[in-house]
Amino acid sequence: MSETTHKSPYALEVRGLTRKFGSRTVLSDISFKLKHGEILVIMGGSGCGKSTLLRHIIGSLKPNAGEIFIDGTEITKLDDAEMAKVRKRFGMLFQSGALFNSMTVGENVALPILESSDVAPHIADLVVKLKLELVGLTGFEHLKPAQISGGMKKRVGMARALALDPDLLFCDEPTSGLDPVMTAVIDTLTVDLTKKLGLSAVVVSHDMTSCFRIATQMIFLFEGKIVASGTPEEIRANPNPILRQFINGEADGPIPLKLSKDDYLKRLIES
Ligand SMILES: Nc1ncnc2c1ncn2[C@@H]1O[C@H](COP(=O)(O)OP(=O)(O)OP(=O)(O)O)[C@@H](O)[C@H]1O
Ligand SMILES: [Mg+2]
Repeated sequence: MSETTHKSPYALEVRGLTRKFGSRTVLSDISFKLKHGEILVIMGGSGCGKSTLLRHIIGSLKPNAGEIFIDGTEITKLDDAEMAKVRKRFGMLFQSGALFNSMTVGENVALPILESSDVAPHIADLVVKLKLELVGLTGFEHLKPAQISGGMKKRVGMARALALDPDLLFCDEPTSGLDPVMTAVIDTLTVDLTKKLGLSAVVVSHDMTSCFRIATQMIFLFEGKIVASGTPEEIRANPNPILRQFINGEADGPIPLKLSKDDYLKRLIES
């Protein structure tokens, strides 16, 4: 929470992170810093390495080279028990939502609280009510995930990510599959909660509107490398042709596809 005394001016720092799967380099020499209270958006096309980078930051994967500092603590060499302690300061909203369908909304949010401490069930119930109120879902605790909409599921995921009062919130594609209005609701919630609770956040997204709405800092990944980084204004003004093609959503440009748009149309006509 905001009252925490920080060890470092940076909530997160990544230095020279490189990761290979077999002979394929999926992340190459990634370095960036995130100050406390900021929202970093990691953007880039499908398969460029966004989720893999996030998995390294939360300590689920170990890099081949490089270092990751969480508020000044280097985590890549920690053992499982030490990593579990650091992870208590994280909240994670997964790409798929990852709610348990057999459990109610309230039980899903209570899960990390009951798993991590000796909290009495009635206290856990209170915390659940509070977190659901934060995401605008007061009174929904008795419903099952199948009975609520996709946007509400994302908000339940957010309430669960906030259950243990994290310092750092990680969200992987929090708005994928949502309509533009619900996307705006989730984006606003992310910004408001980050401010209200004094969190820092790392959000992975390929939705450009969302990225520019929430970010205070941005990095753009392409084939496992950072090709552009900076504030939203700096990114908007960055002339990198790969970034420009991505932001403008154009079919033709330096991002390699198997066929160009013209070749594709020609083949369609000829076939
Ligand atoms: N455990 C693994 N073993 C081998 N290859 C992997 C593994 N995890 C990820 N990869 C590869 O790393 C690359 C990056 O994957 P990643 O999931 O990080 O992409 P992404 O940017 O999150 O894509 P999306 O936007 O589709 O979610 C992909 O080519 C993927 O096949
Ligand atoms: Mg991903």
